[in-house]
Amino acid sequence: MRSKSTKLSCFILVLLLLVLGGLIVMKRESLMPLFRHAISSHNTIKLPPPVFKSNVSIEEALKQRRSIRTYKNVALTLQQVSQLLWAAQGITAVPGLRTAPSAGGIYPLKIYVVSGNVGNLPAGVYRYLPDEQALEMLSKSDKRQELALAAHEQHDIKEGAIDIVITATYKQTAAKYGSNGEQYVHMEAGHVAQNIYLQCVSLGLGTVSIGSFDDNNIRHVLILPRDEDPLYIMPVGKI
Ligand SMILES: Cc1cc2nc3c(=O)[nH]c(=O)nc-3n(C[C@H](O)[C@H](O)[C@H](O)COP(=O)(O)O)c2cc1C
Repeated sequence: MRSKSTKLSCFILVLLLLVLGGLIVMKRESLMPLFRHAISSHNTIKLPPPVFKSNVSIEEALKQRRSIRTYKNVALTLQQVSQLLWAAQGITAVPGLRTAPSAGGIYPLKIYVVSGNVGNLPAGVYRYLPDEQALEMLSKSDKRQELALAAHEQHDIKEGAIDIVITATYKQTAAKYGSNGEQYVHMEAGHVAQNIYLQCVSLGLGTVSIGSFDDNNIRHVLILPRDEDPLYIMPVGKI
């Protein structure tokens, strides 16, 4: 009886070791989405509050808006980063309505910042948390070059002080709108990108909406959750 239970314990131990070994040899990247929230829960950086006054009128911003692909090697301030993220997806009214419209108020878009040259913000990858006007740090190294490589080496991506990446969780919108959901999500990304363009004009910064890249490579660089797809990369820099 005792030898039978010893054999069973040995079998369970070997099984556990095999599962553990399998997990260790799995690529770190494929594990990251599972653990991301645990890792990052302590890595939140509060952003300065956005400001709601400007010397540039909405008409001037619309008139001046242009895709700009060359930037000065000058650091952005955390205030500017905060303002850009607020323009993209900031909360403007209860119960969590945002600067850009969203079909059914579902808000399937997520905003990431790949930071390389921002005062008081270490280089790294961050996720914008609209409810808290904060950034959640996801990784600590400068990924601008890798991001550019994943987008057919478009040089502006590595030369911008930051890259804003808009991603989407399609299934959130599809749950309500079925097959129409996909086009709604794309429309929403357009709204967000235009907000970023106009905010850039107001701040004296340049940007361009980049849609040409390899989705899987971008996913890999940002370690995106499996159900999230990249839609736009917008480098931002001083002009
Ligand atoms: C869906 C979409 C995808 C785009 N993809 C890229 C891109 O991959 N690279 C790029 O340099 N510009 C890209 N652009 C920017 C366009 O080239 C630009 O808007 C166009 O040349 C008009 O110039 P303007 O934005 O200054 O008015 C894209 C624009 C849109 C709307």
